[in-house]
Amino acid sequence: MASTNTSEHRASVTRARRESLNGHRSVIVWFTGLSGSGKSTLAHAVEEQLHLAGCRTFVLDGDNVRQGLCRDLGFSEAARSENIRRIGEVAKLGIEAGTVVLTAFISPFADDRARVRALVAEGDFIEVYCACPLAVCEGRDVKGLYRRARSGEIADFTGISSPYEAPPAPELVLDTACQNLEQSVASVIALLRSRGIGQ
Ligand code: PPS
Repeated sequence: MASTNTSEHRASVTRARRESLNGHRSVIVWFTGLSGSGKSTLAHAVEEQLHLAGCRTFVLDGDNVRQGLCRDLGFSEAARSENIRRIGEVAKLGIEAGTVVLTAFISPFADDRARVRALVAEGDFIEVYCACPLAVCEGRDVKGLYRRARSGEIADFTGISSPYEAPPAPELVLDTACQNLEQSVASVIALLRSRGIGQ
């Protein structure tokens, strides 16, 4: 049953005060792309740089979150939408807490990503598309999942038997097939610096 009879309690320690204490604003950096496109590696590498620069950060990663908060969800379209809805809400809490939240989820559906963007204020959501052709991701097959998806062992696999909708207007597109990690990290850091984060 849905929650009823609830009301919001207004905290005296606000997001603005936390941001001021931290010395930087908070934001969601939303990495999206196929399995094997480099989302997690990038999110953690960007976090490392931001942490060294004194920023408060946190990474939400698909494989990890699916072992806890979203352990009840599979990979149907509805389950993925619910996965992204929950992550969006957690990420929103993260920016209220004053942190730079870096998320690494395939998040294959444009509508689901748009809903997260709409959940927060203008400028709070930075969408980073890890653009890497399916053939390259499949060639890497770091976890052996593409091979298992091709053989039919894994159903609803993104790019094989489930769709991926590329973002129409992301804040940043990274060519993770051709760029190395250092170049991609530098692009994200440059964008964040232009927004006053990680100076
Ligand atoms: S989604 O679509 O955003 O809800 O997916 P996400 O939470 O990011 O989880 C993706 C990771 O789950 C593993 N995995 C699968 N991916 C895609 N399709 C299917 N069917 C699937 N089954 C398991 C896989 O390790 C994904 O991790 P990444 O880091 O993307 O490779």
